[in-house]
Amino acid sequence: MELEETIRNPGYKDAEDGVSAADTSSSDTAERRDSTAVKLDVAADEYTQVKPYAGMPKEVLLLHSSKARYRVPREVLFWLIVCGTLALVAVTITIIVMSPPCLRWWQISPVYQVYPRSFKDSDGDGIGDLKGIKEKLDHFLHLNIKAVWISPFYRSPMKDFGYDVEDFRDIDPLFGNMQDFEELLAEMHNKGLKLIMDFIPNHTSDRHRWFNLSRTRDPHYKDYYVWTDCDPASPKPNNWVSIFGNSSWTYDEVRGQCYLHQFLKEQPDLNLRNRDVVQEIIDLIKFWLEKGVDGFRMDAVKHMLEATHLRDEPQVDPDMPPELVTTEWDLYHDYTTSQVGLHDILREFRAEMDTYSREPGRYRFMVTESYDYEEVEKTMMYYGTPLVTESDFPFNFYLLDLPHNTSGWWAKHLVDLWMSNMPRGKWPNWVVGNHDRSRIGSSAGRIYVRAINLMLLTLPGTPTTYYGEEIGMENINVTQSQIQDPAGKYNASLSRDPERSPMQWNSEMNAGFNSITNTTWLPLHPVYETVNVEVQTEDKGSVLSQYVFLNGLRQSELPFLRGWFCYVLADTNVFSYLRELDGHKGAYLMVINFGKGSATTDLSAVQELPEQLKVLMSTNPANDGKVFQKSRILTEPGEGLVIRYSTYTRFHPNHPAECFVSEKACYLETVDILYKC
Ligand code: GLC
Ligand code: MG
Repeated sequence: MELEETIRNPGYKDAEDGVSAADTSSSDTAERRDSTAVKLDVAADEYTQVKPYAGMPKEVLLLHSSKARYRVPREVLFWLIVCGTLALVAVTITIIVMSPPCLRWWQISPVYQVYPRSFKDSDGDGIGDLKGIKEKLDHFLHLNIKAVWISPFYRSPMKDFGYDVEDFRDIDPLFGNMQDFEELLAEMHNKGLKLIMDFIPNHTSDRHRWFNLSRTRDPHYKDYYVWTDCDPASPKPNNWVSIFGNSSWTYDEVRGQCYLHQFLKEQPDLNLRNRDVVQEIIDLIKFWLEKGVDGFRMDAVKHMLEATHLRDEPQVDPDMPPELVTTEWDLYHDYTTSQVGLHDILREFRAEMDTYSREPGRYRFMVTESYDYEEVEKTMMYYGTPLVTESDFPFNFYLLDLPHNTSGWWAKHLVDLWMSNMPRGKWPNWVVGNHDRSRIGSSAGRIYVRAINLMLLTLPGTPTTYYGEEIGMENINVTQSQIQDPAGKYNASLSRDPERSPMQWNSEMNAGFNSITNTTWLPLHPVYETVNVEVQTEDKGSVLSQYVFLNGLRQSELPFLRGWFCYVLADTNVFSYLRELDGHKGAYLMVINFGKGSATTDLSAVQELPEQLKVLMSTNPANDGKVFQKSRILTEPGEGLVIRYSTYTRFHPNHPAECFVSEKACYLETVDILYKC
């Protein structure tokens, strides 16, 4: 009805037809009769009586529109729009400026280390492979882990199980082929997972093409490795020793000289003082970045350069007869590790990676491996400087020392070693196991496994989980005749086989590691029928279920990813710390008993804590939900508590010396946003 009226409105029609009122004389007469058409030759003031209507000519329109009742609202509207737009722009800029930087994938997710020989065997040869890893990707999704580091799977004679690379551009047939790799990577990316490759810049296999060309003195390759003259009868140009024991020099018949190897004699050290070698490495990095890998774990970086003068290293015990100097621990490694120039090379690698990080959403991550033991400041150098990034973080191996002295204050000491030495604004990380070190469940003791995972997942920064730690796997016993690790063949006590046993997936044949034939490259742990992924997935109180819960909490609760980390207490038994975020009501207190006895912890002096503390989660599921007075928090050895409490009172302003924060942010609860503060 209304629509029809509008259509019949003559003014509207005129306007629609593009016919001006002045032309109506030439229009259809019937229409003219219906029309209340305006005659423009009449003086303008005649129209002052007429109400405005649609389609009125310009002059009439102007006449009306200049009246205050039209002009004022129009101007008000105009300024409202201008001011509104400016305000929007200002708010947008403020939000951008005020927003803390987004956390990256390697900060949000733990890093999970896969040792490919031992993860999942898809073809029944008893050795894990890339297809096997692909079959098990859902395990990472279940754990809520996005970053997966896979130990080397390049073509290799396997003297050091892949850390001796024969061809960096190829996959070892034991693990599959390039197509398997590409399919694995594509499938990982489909599932939102990131792949971190192991990269070995310090050495190659003695079967690498470069080494063969170098030992035959090919003009281009002759200086690709570290060669020096030596006496074939006693090939020790100096007292340097290999990490695996004995001299780090081996005489090569073909070249008639000695070459340096800081690891096995089948792993000659590259000469990274040669620019051509650095360029080769950069080309390899590019090769894998082009394929789409998301990052690298840089192996054994402190060994990359050696002093050219080849002088003897000082003995730790100057009175030791030189012929007894055979192990890493007998010398100060002043000339074979952490040499000047090393960081420049790593920064070059890093700069190359950064060119690939510019692709939106494709940040490429670097972590470095360097055991510097008490020289923690050497490790910190791998963070780079405020102006030049190097690795995103160097692996923090200090928690591997927890078993030396399981106690609350020792745990705090190890944590603090990192926190108080880390350069400002950098991101911490924590490692409790890897393919080179005893499983912490074995060295610390089974009862501490859950507490260690709890600490790992509630400390600030990125946790690293070695395969099997999520189910509390322990070392296997390997008899002398079963030793596989070449380092163990040199010296049984150095064998790393115990921590490399097949992953325990289920209670079936070979724990589901190899379901095709009854063979595995190392024996399974005898308890696999009860300690495995399948059994623990069903059990809500299992090590695995607790891992999943804690990792979920870590990623969903802002105080864990963004908040302050503060020491609350450390004694013989208990290590206690809290996580809080300014403006965020929920805060978390962790109380972990690393000691040998039950503990009653009295936190009544900590005014910032409420009187009553309710356990959100205990490593002993029977204590979930328990309420403690803050003066009497009970824990058993190996028990860890996550206590959630609500308060806006913050601990950190009153205890600045006890607190750290990396990606500082504050929370505005009313609008649920984070801002820089
Ligand atoms: C790193 C690896 C170790 C290997 C060594 C030599 O330390 O983690 O497994 O034997 O480098 O490449
Ligand atoms: Mg070297």
